[in-house]
Amino acid sequence: MHHTFSDMTFCIRTFGCQMNKHDSERIAGMLEGLGALQVETSEEADMVVFMTCCVREAADVRLMGQVASLKNLPLREGAAIGRRIIAVGGCIGQRDGEKLTRELPHLDVVFGTHNLGSLPKLMERAIGGEGHQIEVLDSAETFPTDLPTAREHSWAAWLPITIGCNNFCSYCIVPYVRGREKSRSLEDVVAEAKAYVDAGVKEITLLGQNVNSYGRDLYGAPRFDDLLDAIDGTGIARLRFATSHPKDLTDGVIERFGTLRSLMPALHLPVQSGSDRILEAMNRRYTRDHYLELIAKLRKACPDIALSSDIIVGFPGETEKDFEDTYRLVEEVGYNQVFTFIYSKREGTPAASIEDSTPREVIQERFDRLVDLVQDKAWQSNQSDKGKTVEVLVEGASKRDSGILAGKSPKNQTVHAKVSAGQSAEDLAGSFVNVRVDEAKTWYLAGTVVDADEGARGSDGC
Ligand code: 5AD
Ligand code: SF4
Repeated sequence: MHHTFSDMTFCIRTFGCQMNKHDSERIAGMLEGLGALQVETSEEADMVVFMTCCVREAADVRLMGQVASLKNLPLREGAAIGRRIIAVGGCIGQRDGEKLTRELPHLDVVFGTHNLGSLPKLMERAIGGEGHQIEVLDSAETFPTDLPTAREHSWAAWLPITIGCNNFCSYCIVPYVRGREKSRSLEDVVAEAKAYVDAGVKEITLLGQNVNSYGRDLYGAPRFDDLLDAIDGTGIARLRFATSHPKDLTDGVIERFGTLRSLMPALHLPVQSGSDRILEAMNRRYTRDHYLELIAKLRKACPDIALSSDIIVGFPGETEKDFEDTYRLVEEVGYNQVFTFIYSKREGTPAASIEDSTPREVIQERFDRLVDLVQDKAWQSNQSDKGKTVEVLVEGASKRDSGILAGKSPKNQTVHAKVSAGQSAEDLAGSFVNVRVDEAKTWYLAGTVVDADEGARGSDGC
């Protein structure tokens, strides 16, 4: 790259999933590498990059509003160039391409999910007065992991192992904007993990739309459980992954929740619905019974495992009986957390053409009932940790009180604890402390920092 952005500032607005957040870290890494300074707000930024999501309609609408509102925003004092450069990337960029600049003429750059690396070049041309820069590719030239990264936290890293998705769940737009599934080689992934361990990273989260099918495009081997073993071998303290498709979760992976030192006892296993009829219409390719069998096996391998899920309410044709099947499944599993979504019609997906006459209020009422249950169950699951000592990876001070540290337990629960005299929560960020849990709330645990020898290690894994 010949030019630099050395006296320029940028900010990134990220919507959607962890993959997008990670892509944003790569973009920040590139722009910082070219001399630009990352800032928090659009007011201070000479360049604003939107990393977008189109999984549900709400995010689409929000993006349009946010880009439109930049139109008349004054430049910062001493701005490097005479106007603000605005770029839209990620899933909406991929889906809409040029159409975006027709709707938002003050937009400078549109890029897609397969060409993050082109952003600096496109920005440069836009700054140079070459007009709208639109580049959307059908598939990836290189893995975005070839790009530098500016991680949000020095002690935690996201590590993409696959990109794209081959599943075509009937409601989902992702396969159309992220392309077919591609796995990185095991050597590449392990080399990146090793580099993170050497740099002092304590937690790695492997990313993919469906991590369980890792390796299938590499002629079936290595598989995801081989990859888990290899990453564990790097000496990383904590290992997590997301997301898992139930149809591809193997016994080998389940077993590792009981055996692998670094694999944390928490799994996000989206069920989407508890009704076999709806699961079939969603093209999920598992049954309610199969899912419950997986849960039983997971609990056998790792009795204290924390489970979380995604559920869609109001899929076209969902009846009260279908919804009750979902409700009962949530009661039965007892998740620590469930992300609940109202079905959102996505043009171009198979489900978009299914007729549905269920009134909006009926769907909303089901949704509210489910949210209540999810909260009860979250509270209930946390009660079992009361009195236990858990090892917490500190993230910093809690939002409300700088004297209280916030971090994550092995089960990925948020934990708050008062810092000891003479210590600061910010200084502890990235280190482990043991916390005795005094109070268990719906969305967090609160406790007291205790000495290492009070037995935290014992409650770590399974
Ligand atoms: N409407 C509502 N929710 C959706 N999701 C994916 N597509 C849709 C849609 N069209 C949810 C699924 C997925 C999560 C990331 O978003 O539950 O697991
Ligand atoms: Fe979408 Fe299904 Fe792929 Fe997940 S597995 S990204 S829900 S198509």
